[in-house]
Amino acid sequence: MPSVHVVDHPLIQHKLSILRNKETGPKEFRELTDEIALLMAYEVTRDLPLEEVEIETPLAKVRARMIKGKKLGVVPILRAGLGMVGGILKLIPAAKVGHVGVYRDPATLKPVEYYCKLPADASERDFIVVDPMLATGGSAAATVGFLKERGVTNIKMMCLIAAPEGIAAFHSAHPDVPIYTAAVDSHLDERAFIVPGLGDAGDRLFGTQ
Ligand code: PRP
Repeated sequence: MPSVHVVDHPLIQHKLSILRNKETGPKEFRELTDEIALLMAYEVTRDLPLEEVEIETPLAKVRARMIKGKKLGVVPILRAGLGMVGGILKLIPAAKVGHVGVYRDPATLKPVEYYCKLPADASERDFIVVDPMLATGGSAAATVGFLKERGVTNIKMMCLIAAPEGIAAFHSAHPDVPIYTAAVDSHLDERAFIVPGLGDAGDRLFGTQ
């Protein structure tokens, strides 16, 4: 059974609706993407393991819980995934960041890799791959494939909007990787854009329309 977590917190849904609005400009679009990524990171990290440590409050010694030295990594899929990195790093400042450049060939709709730089110790880390849009799922599946080739075994995929077609394709390629998304939209159009979606996330983030 594919694991899809729809993170439907009211703050996330409210901010996502402003993102979808075509009148929202790049400045606000960037700020909201950052905020939603932070809020989603709270949910994506819910199962991080804890350990008990002894600390001393001003009043007494106590055994208290802290995150168990887990090494995390974040991989934005260029370009649009870059907009989600800052928000996640606010919650997980020790995470290392790898970059994977993939664009979708507009004619074939297939992902084309043009850049890949991961932390040297990637195989020891758990990764969150981020991209606002999971359309055909090709870019995300290819990126997760690169991580697995480098020995990464624990990966989560985080996006803002997913299409049912993309969820199905991604899960058939990587059934072990859960998807966290703020919304599952209706369908893909003939150009493989998510409908209703929010348009081209990269262009809206960076004002390149
Ligand atoms: C968009 C989006 C995803 C990809 C999703 O990127 O940001 O990376 O398409 O499509 P898929 O699920 O069908 O692969 P785009 O190729 O427009 O590149 P950009 O981020 O540089 O704008």
